[in-house]
Amino acid sequence: MLFLRYQDSMMNKDTNHSKTAIILGIESSCDETALAVIRGKQNSPPEIISESLFSQVEEHQRYGGVVPEIAARSHGNRIPHLLSDVMHKAKINFSHIDAIAATSEPGLIGGVLVGLMVAKGLCVAHNKPLIAVNHLEGHALSPRLSENIDFPYLLLLVSGGHCQILIVYGVGSYELLGTTIDDSAGEAFDKVAKMLDLGFPGGPAVEKMAMTGNPFAYHLPTPLKGTPTPNFSFSGLKTAILRIIEKQSNLSISDLCASFQNAVIECFVDRLKIAMRLYKNKFSLKDLRFVIAGGVASNQSIRHELQNLCQLEGFSYAAPPLKYCTDNGVMIAYAGLEHYFLRNFSPLDYSAKARSPLGTKL
Ligand code: KG4
Ligand code: ZN
Repeated sequence: MLFLRYQDSMMNKDTNHSKTAIILGIESSCDETALAVIRGKQNSPPEIISESLFSQVEEHQRYGGVVPEIAARSHGNRIPHLLSDVMHKAKINFSHIDAIAATSEPGLIGGVLVGLMVAKGLCVAHNKPLIAVNHLEGHALSPRLSENIDFPYLLLLVSGGHCQILIVYGVGSYELLGTTIDDSAGEAFDKVAKMLDLGFPGGPAVEKMAMTGNPFAYHLPTPLKGTPTPNFSFSGLKTAILRIIEKQSNLSISDLCASFQNAVIECFVDRLKIAMRLYKNKFSLKDLRFVIAGGVASNQSIRHELQNLCQLEGFSYAAPPLKYCTDNGVMIAYAGLEHYFLRNFSPLDYSAKARSPLGTKL
């Protein structure tokens, strides 16, 4: 009913798709509470008008991981402040906003519900369209925040919850080529950091230790390397690290971190070579584009090695700016902006989901 009321008002509105739109984005799927206001046109990098992010890391640190209930409550407490902050910094009011985008899936359900409910409330109060955004799509499109990257492209999406290789055909159109059969890459970084008492989140801590270590000091397994489908597995690698920690008294933490990171890179490179072959069978030379996104994409060694791989395989390489690799409100607002121009609005009874794969396996 409320959705219909909005549609009525849209009928009278200028629907010229080449005009710019202003979108408010809300992200609350894990432990970052993040809002942003952006302005942009279809298919080009947007202008980031304002952004505000609260990281809950300190609230979860003592538990060694994200506690869903604490996360949900914290999102609920923080969103009102961040909302006034982004609106104040943007120097706009709700009459200037064209649509409200919020992460609706996948993620820790309590947090997702909080952010989505706030978005729905704002849509009702200000008669704005709701755009429910798949968080993974936020990551998948994030390299387009700063660069004009045409579709299609091959995507390595590596975050705390996911490790996937996808073909991105366009906004809302994805094909899954491979995924992890156990842990995600980010989870593996976090677990190794926990075993070595390096704190949470583990990725940046492991990367820092690895900088001064020898990547060939420890011989570690590279699970699924050489197999024909570009899937991943990291649990064996994690167990191998645990055995080394249990057995060795004169452990070099920096060598172990460097060796672990190197094994992850070896897996990425091997799996991507297969995926690139599959991609080359489908597309012409002009379409050979590779993109990495998600929290793990902030790792400099991974970025560097994948850049080298792209050079070898004839792919262009792109990654989001570092601050937009990990969760943020800008990428959700941007996915919302692209859906806005496609008129992909969501009904106000849209349900939040804990799980929601991005691509279908074709
Ligand atoms: O994308 P993201 O912020 O959240 C999810 O959607 O899951 O990714 C968080 C993950 C964590 O597992 C974190 O340890 C990992 O990204 N990460 C890193 C680095 N920075 C964050 N992993 C490796 N190296 C990093 N520098
Ligand atoms: Zn994420």
